[in-house]
Amino acid sequence: MFRLAFIGFGTVGQGLAELLLKKEEVLRDRFGFEWRAVAISDMLKGSVYDPDGLDLAQLLETVQRTGRVDEYPAPTKGWDSLQTIRDTNANAIVEVTYTDVQTGEPALTHCRTAFEAGKHVVTTNKGPVVLAYRELVELAAAHGVQFRFEGTVMSGTPALRLAQNDLAGAVIHGFRGILNGTTNYILTQMEAGQSYAEALRQAQALGYAEAVPDADVEGWDAAGKVVILANVLLGADLRVSDVEREGITGITPEAVAAAGADGERWKLIGSGRWEGDRFVARVQPERLPLADPLAGVGGPINAVTFDTDTLGGVTLVGPGAGRTATGYALLGDLLDIHRH
Ligand code: HSE
Repeated sequence: MFRLAFIGFGTVGQGLAELLLKKEEVLRDRFGFEWRAVAISDMLKGSVYDPDGLDLAQLLETVQRTGRVDEYPAPTKGWDSLQTIRDTNANAIVEVTYTDVQTGEPALTHCRTAFEAGKHVVTTNKGPVVLAYRELVELAAAHGVQFRFEGTVMSGTPALRLAQNDLAGAVIHGFRGILNGTTNYILTQMEAGQSYAEALRQAQALGYAEAVPDADVEGWDAAGKVVILANVLLGADLRVSDVEREGITGITPEAVAAAGADGERWKLIGSGRWEGDRFVARVQPERLPLADPLAGVGGPINAVTFDTDTLGGVTLVGPGAGRTATGYALLGDLLDIHRH
């Protein structure tokens, strides 16, 4: 039985909560997967703890109606994130705080604290994985618990698990992908004649964009995902500053139209591969012919092609952002811990 503590209860945490409720019976009947939410601690919305379990449906309703977690009638309230991680009877921490991707905080401290307390962590926060993947995996292993972060790349589309589990018998030499939903959405809308500013505004309204738009449009978000793919799947040891990076802000409506007239499309491509002993990692706009499998991937959809020794290219296409898709990443992570 998973006893879950949610650290952060914004869009992604609520997305997971909705899925847990919707799929409760199926998960129990098909996989023997059982869960109870015992604590929620959110910096802005307050915190609640009940060792016997919270009514998650009532909690969701309370948050959506009042904007607060602590309007829910729980026996214990007001614990901060660290006390919630350490002192509740949770055995798995859902780490979905608003985190600074450059420092990785507060998610990084939450992960370390959870492992030291012998608790699994599932997260969609890129910061801790980008900055401290090896340290965190080792710390989790030393305490006999698991660290899962599928949602850091392509949200609920299982890019990491596909590579780690199903391509385990192949060698992955490199990858190439559309790793940022916001910029792909903007480029697709610009092809349809919308302005850059309006398309960005829509991407924000639809919940794809990062809080600071530069993170998307200047390629920082995609660069973080390149680092994660490179370090987790290809044994590299990169930092974000090792990724050559160019965003989409230089792509004008005229450039979009010119590519279209030549039967091509602009895509923001994140890539990485070993070249001898050197790992080459890039994020840059590329003009792709329509025959390229990545050219047909439009809107907020993401895609990645793994270049393998045995199968050649293996391409995965699916959602890369959004409430339910990212909530699903966490559900997949919990299920993966349960099954293994
Ligand atoms: N802002 C990100 C994107 C969210 O647009 O892809 C998912 O990491």
